[in-house]
This record gives sequence, structure tokens and C-alpha cells, in this order.
Amino acid sequence: MCGIVGYIGKQKALPILINGLKRLEYRGYDSAGIAMLENGDLQIVKQPGKICELEESVAAANFTGNVGIGHTRWATHGVPDRKNAHPHTDCRKRLAIIHNGIIENYSTLKNELILKGHTFVSETDTEILVHLIEEFYDNNLEQAVRYALAEIQGTYGILVVSKDEPEMIVAARNGSPLLIGVGEEEYFAASDASAIIRHTRDVAYLDDGEMAILNHKTFVTKTIHDKPVTKYVERVSFDLEQIEKGGYPHFMLKEIFNQPETIRDCMRGRLMLENGDVRLGGLEVHLDQMLKAKKIVLTACGTSWHSALIGEYILEELLRLPVEVDYASEFRYRNPVLDPETIVIVISQSGETADTLAAVREVKKMRSPVFGICNVVGSTIARETLAGVYLHVGPEIGVASTKAFTAQVTVLMQIALLLARRKWMSAEEGKKIIRELQAIPEKVEKILQLDQKIQKLAELYGNSHNFLYLGRGYNFPVALEGALKMKEISYIHAEGYPAAEMKHGPIALIDENMPVVFIAIKDHSYDKIISNIEEVKARNGRVIAVATEGDEKIKERADHVIYVPQTLDFLSPLLTIVPLQLLAYHAAIVRGCNVDQPRNLAKSVTVE
Ligand code: M6R
Repeated sequence: MCGIVGYIGKQKALPILINGLKRLEYRGYDSAGIAMLENGDLQIVKQPGKICELEESVAAANFTGNVGIGHTRWATHGVPDRKNAHPHTDCRKRLAIIHNGIIENYSTLKNELILKGHTFVSETDTEILVHLIEEFYDNNLEQAVRYALAEIQGTYGILVVSKDEPEMIVAARNGSPLLIGVGEEEYFAASDASAIIRHTRDVAYLDDGEMAILNHKTFVTKTIHDKPVTKYVERVSFDLEQIEKGGYPHFMLKEIFNQPETIRDCMRGRLMLENGDVRLGGLEVHLDQMLKAKKIVLTACGTSWHSALIGEYILEELLRLPVEVDYASEFRYRNPVLDPETIVIVISQSGETADTLAAVREVKKMRSPVFGICNVVGSTIARETLAGVYLHVGPEIGVASTKAFTAQVTVLMQIALLLARRKWMSAEEGKKIIRELQAIPEKVEKILQLDQKIQKLAELYGNSHNFLYLGRGYNFPVALEGALKMKEISYIHAEGYPAAEMKHGPIALIDENMPVVFIAIKDHSYDKIISNIEEVKARNGRVIAVATEGDEKIKERADHVIYVPQTLDFLSPLLTIVPLQLLAYHAAIVRGCNVDQPRNLAKSVTVE
């Protein structure tokens, strides 16, 4: 959700904060602000809108201080305006706080603080925390923060500064990510590494219930109960280049076009063609446990949930085990039946999604083994799961997930293959699948060459009010994912269904204004899906078919055909999703939408 960054050191803090906030803007982008410790004073500038607007507002101020904190907001409590933007201050404007997370008992605390004479100016939950710190503040910021945190329930990643102790930033974390960047006689704090990677790659990740006290010379880490903790400084592996647009107009387009390379990266060093096998280092010591499993549960949110659905089909097919898929938000509250013979795999690009993380913690309480499939290295889910597999696709910045989806499916395929080879699959069969997997990036490249054709389709249908996406088997989740991409970035209402379900309701929507996207590749349900296309055509619906190269028959039925190369059925989602990502992207452009920062969304959903 919100992005936070802080700096203390020998450089001017302002450009570091502004640059860091620009990197974090994908986390939230409705308003932003900074607090600077400037010549013994605390200066606050806040602005509704994007970081570039904040940048304009601070330009004239000519701040030269070398301690400051900055925030980009995704509103939870209160509309996105200047008063609700962070930083928030206490009554005497000595303290400033920025916060990512939600304070659940804020309303009770607010009433108590009002009775004690505090005046509130915003509608946010965050503001109570700075007043609470003020209550405890007696020229010891660290202690006041600790006492205040003991009173609150909820999640937080916070940075706090005081003009009375200008050589210090206090950071604390519970449920919202926070890391400390270590430079030479300078320290950074941020909700993710992209904000500070320009300055340092050495980071220490805070865990829940921990705080850090940063000054010009050092940083100290403790629990919020004042017990010292030693943190290891790790090296962030991604480059600056990976978080830049690299000549593309949008991150989303770059990430779609990078997929041949990201799918290769996700398989690199893991596939062993010579013996038709897979090596997934993170899972190696847990293989026996995984092989003994009688049931697999996959849980995730959003796009990651769609890849879990594909995983369900693949794992059931190759392992002949029951596989369940659940939304993490439902799973965590529905008292699921788990036992030590059930393994749970959670999937999360960010590794920070609140519901998915809560699911991990629920599973751990029930003592079932829980594995993770994450992209962000060092993320909370990656650290809290027993073991897991990284996607290795580099930072995904576009709010609409694309390259993470194809990598998640690739990882699930690799896990299925790894386990199947140990259970029943011959080396020959394994080699056949690996050859097909290795051919996927080239096939994706071929599909990407259809970009202009897909752009024309988007121009034709970009003004539609609705879209229907239909697929069967492995491509039913692709229909869901195609519809999600369309609605989240173009704001066109779009629904995905298993094609056969159409006649149980959605068929009522079909008329000459309804574009229906069919994923109609040559698999075992091809004839059935052709019948579904006929049903749509009989009602004057407009059909866009994603079909297998060489299928001439489909041209007679569909209004438009986008061809994808042939592959194994269970690998087909890796191909069929690509034109749907492009269709959503171009439809959003036709409609003048902000592709990388769609309204109301944020990249990493760290609140429930
Ligand atoms: O980081 P995660 O994979 O846990 O995120 C899950 C969803 O929030 C995410 O996939 C969301 O649905 C995207 N906006 C989809 O494009």
C-alpha cells in the first residue's frame, strides 16, 4: 500500500526522498508529503496527487537539511487531500510521523486523546499515533514511540522524527514491510528496496515487533519491548535498470514484452534436460515431506489466485492428488481442515499481501507445512514460509501483474514436474515437458509480434462497456485473468467464466455490443468451445478467438482470430494470456487511462 522512505546522513535529504518516493509511487499515489529537519525546525510539505506535484511544491523551499522522511499514500481512512496526506504532526508540531498500515483501535484512542486536550486535523487513523507519542514524549523519542506502540492494535510500518532530537529517525514495523538501507555514514529506511537502491544495496529487513533507531553514525535494532536484536545486512540482487522503463512508455508494456526473458530467468539453472528432471534448491530438503502429502492447498489473491487455479489443474493432472484453491482472504477465516499430510503453497508476487500473509500464519498455527512462491526476495512471506521458490523475474512495477503471472505458472509447472518425476514420471516424459517449457519463451516472442494487430482490436472494441472472457480447462483461469487485466486498467467491466457456464446465465448479456473473448486452442475441449462460439454468434455477439496456429476452421466462426503457437495443454496458459495482457493494455490506452497507476489500486495490498 503506502510507500515510505527516510534518510539521515551527509547528503541533502530532499532529492533522496523525492527520488525514493517516485520509485515507491506504484505502492500508492493519491497524495504525498515530506517532513524535513531543517535548521532546528520541522518543515512539512504535503500535496494531493502524484509525486511530481509534491516535487513542484517543494522546489521553491530549497531545503538543505540532511534528515527527512517521505510518504506516498493509498487512502484507507479519509479522502486523498492535503490534510489527510502524511506526514502527520502532534499538537505542538514537534513530531512528524509517516505510516503504512491500519490502526484498528484508532477511534477509541482518538476519543481518549481528545479528552486529554489533543486537537486533530485529519480523518486518518495515523494521526492518533503521533498524538499518542506526544503524550509520552519527554525528549526521548525512542521511548515515546515504544510506549505509544504498546497502546495500539493494528499494522504499521512507521518512521518518526522530532525537531527536539534532530539527529535521529525512529522506525518500527508490525505487519507492514520496512527495511533499513546501510550506506557509509548514512542510513535509509524504506518500505521496499527500490526506493533506496540508487544509493545502497545493503539492507537489513525489520521483522514484526522490531524497531530501529537511525542516526548519522549507526543504526540500532531492538524489539518494541526494548530487547536488542541483531540484524544481518543482506545484498539486494536487482539493478536500477530493472526498475526503469527502459524505453517503453509504461512499466506494464515493458513487463509484458520482457516475458520471454523473465520466463527464461524463472527456469534458469532449474531444468535438467539430460535426465528430464528439475532442481528447486529451496525445496530440496523438504522433498520427502512434499512427496508424502495426501492433499495440496493453494492459496493467494488476485492474479496470484488465478495462477493457483492453473496450478490446481497441473498438480492434479501430474500428481493425481486432490488439490484445493482458496482465496487467502477466505481461507484465513473459514477454519480450514488441515493436517500434517496436507501441504499448503501460498503464491504472492510481492510477498507482502496481508491476507496471504495471514493465511501463512494460520497454517503455521495448525502445524501444516507451508511453502511460498514469491517474487520479492526477502519479503515477509518468503521469510515466514518453511521454504519456497522465487520467481526471479526482477521487480514488477506495473500495478497490473503480468510477468509475475507467467512466472508463477512456470514455477508451479516446475514443482509438479519435480514431484511427478519422483512419483511416477519417466525421464523420457520429463524430457518432453522440459523441451516444451524451454520452447515457451520463443513462442511468447512470436505472440508479441502481434502487438499491432491487437492494438487495432483494442481500438475497435475499446469503447465497449462490457467484455466477456470464456475458456475451458487450463484456460478457464486465463479467462479470469484476461478479464481482471481488462477491468483493472481500462475500467471496462469484464467477466471471466468457464465457457460451458455461459448458458447458465451470462448468455443473457450477449448482443451485438458484447465482445466475447474465447480462448479456443486445439486441446481436448476444442469442439465444445466451438459450439460455445456458435451460441454467441447466434445471438450476434462479437467473437475474438485466441486459437492455435494452423486452425483455419475457426476463422469461419470468429470475427477476429489471434493465433498462438501449439504447445502442451498444461503449458498453454503461458501463451494464451499474452494477447489478453496486450488487449487490456491497448484498451486502457485507447481510453486514456493511467496504465501503471490505475485508479484506486495499489501494487502491494498490505491491508485487509
Ligand atoms: O503480491 P500478490 O501476488 O500477493 O498480489 C495479489 C493481488 O493483489 C494482485 O495480483 C492484484 O490482483 C493485481 N493488481 C493483479 O493485476
